[in-house]
Amino acid sequence: MDQSLPLVVIAMEAEAAPVRKKLNLTGEGNPLAEGISARLWSNESVHVVINGSDARFGVDAIGTLPASLTTLLAIEKTNPKIVISAGTCGGFTARDGFIGEIILANRCVFHDRRIPLKGFMNYGVGDFHVADLDEIAERLGFRMGTVSTGDSLDSQPSDLDFMNSVTTVAKDMEAAAVAWVSALKEVPFTALKVTTDLVDGEITTEDEFVTNLQYASNRLSEGILSLVHELKDFRTE
Ligand code: ADE
Repeated sequence: MDQSLPLVVIAMEAEAAPVRKKLNLTGEGNPLAEGISARLWSNESVHVVINGSDARFGVDAIGTLPASLTTLLAIEKTNPKIVISAGTCGGFTARDGFIGEIILANRCVFHDRRIPLKGFMNYGVGDFHVADLDEIAERLGFRMGTVSTGDSLDSQPSDLDFMNSVTTVAKDMEAAAVAWVSALKEVPFTALKVTTDLVDGEITTEDEFVTNLQYASNRLSEGILSLVHELKDFRTE
């Protein structure tokens, strides 16, 4: 297996379809393990893996649990030079976010793991190492900022307080789980997110998400194509 390719980890099929199209990844993809719905596509420049759909509920297996399992299996299969958690996110009007904005992580945390026990606070937040891609982000015109992960689409007041305290610009449901596994496997990590909805805006998250999912996923495909191209010379830090 080529050791020098990026691995892109995506949760939803609707997010992944335009990305695969842009990267010329065709076919059904390959399963990663028996009983696991994740599927992997590879070509000469990139690997893309998706979580697949939940066998019981028949919906995309979104959230941190499937993300960590998929990432572990895909890293073991592909031995990538970098892992990219890619997908859609909630943005913030308070920080000038807008629908379709492309964000590259320079920090990655959990926002809903409140564990006020000695020693467990930092474990809960995670604050995972993120590859230094500032120059690439500047060249591509991507915003850099904190990507913050939780297992809910909505935002409870305590989550919002925490996200404000770390200046979150992208709220998602997978990145920190992907970062945790990447760290375990000692593979560099980043996250590329595109805004579908504004967490502090007027419209309900679920309505805004559905309205903008296709547009944001198209933007994601453009962002991923550019990032993969820029990462051609990326070497392990
Ligand atoms: N993905 C897209 N929008 C999101 C939001 N508001 N929260 C979590 N994940 C998201």
